[in-house]
Amino acid sequence: MSGGDEMSRSSAAARDCGASPDRTLAPFGRRRLPVVARRELGAYVVLSVADPQGPEPDPGQFAMLAAAERWGGGADERPFLPRAFSVARRHGDGTLDFLLEDVGPGTERLAELDAGDDVWLLGPLGRGFEPARRRPVLVGGGVGIAPLAILQDAVGAQARVLLGFRDAAHAEGAALLRDARIATDDGSAGHHGFVTELLVPELGRGAEVYACGPPPMLEAVRALCAEHGVPAQLALEAGMACGFGACFGCVVPTKNGYVRLCVDGPVIDAAQLETVK
Ligand SMILES: Cc1cc2nc3c(=O)[nH]c(=O)nc-3n(C[C@H](O)[C@H](O)[C@H](O)COP(=O)(O)OP(=O)(O)OC[C@H]3O[C@@H](n4cnc5c(N)ncnc54)[C@H](O)[C@@H]3O)c2cc1C
Ligand code: FES
Repeated sequence: MSGGDEMSRSSAAARDCGASPDRTLAPFGRRRLPVVARRELGAYVVLSVADPQGPEPDPGQFAMLAAAERWGGGADERPFLPRAFSVARRHGDGTLDFLLEDVGPGTERLAELDAGDDVWLLGPLGRGFEPARRRPVLVGGGVGIAPLAILQDAVGAQARVLLGFRDAAHAEGAALLRDARIATDDGSAGHHGFVTELLVPELGRGAEVYACGPPPMLEAVRALCAEHGVPAQLALEAGMACGFGACFGCVVPTKNGYVRLCVDGPVIDAAQLETVK
């Protein structure tokens, strides 16, 4: 059986088990895939992984990644568990790009990989952004710009793109998207201030906001959109141990009770949230 047959059969099995058919489903099991490129983008690293047999991810979906070698071990046995990363882009040949910010042992190890190394990848996982129904306004903060790149690829030139960073070195990450307006906290690039200050004039009739970034930014976006009656889809983050619904480690509260962010998100309709913490 070819890899493609195996994949379509396992995807079909997942659908037959009652999984929602309105999103791309991961094939069963993690796949060992080659890193084909690594490039630095300001304070970030873009890691490119060849996945020609993998299903096409929906914008906003993510993958669980681990280095194939030297993952875990050491004095404190970290990082050990795979880590969650938004798919930042899928190229025509199936290469997947991930945008990494080195914040701890897992991201440090992944960010040092280069062409010739392998990763274990499970995905695409989760529920991504709903297709654009109105005028899309994409709002990203820091490494949260990653899923907005693949979303911009899908919605095209009609999208307005507003990105916020702490400083000019991080703002170089904006090169992942096209025609972005930039804000920095320290004023070293673009508008001096928060990205939400760029958002306010965009909240006219017909707008729909798609946002990903740190919780305070997402809460400000949620509150602004609620005030202006503008629908918003927010890509949230939570610590994820499994990525596929088994550990309940990623639950977040919504108006309808707790949801597991890895299967019911990471993109959540802002109207379902009292607040983003
Ligand atoms: C759906 C999803 C998509 C993500 N996409 C990206 C991405 O595209 N690029 C990227 O660089 N990172 C992304 N992340 C975050 C990434 O998974 C974490 O930064 C990573 O797990 C940290 O692992 P570490 O071993 O390097 O650091 P750790 O030592 O595990 O963590 C470092 C610090 O970050 C905090 N932290 C870890 N994970 C999270 C989390 N999920 N949410 C909030 N705080 C956390 C920890 O509490 C700690 O303070 C995403 C997370 C999720 C859930
Ligand atoms: S990460 Fe395990 S249930 Fe969501």
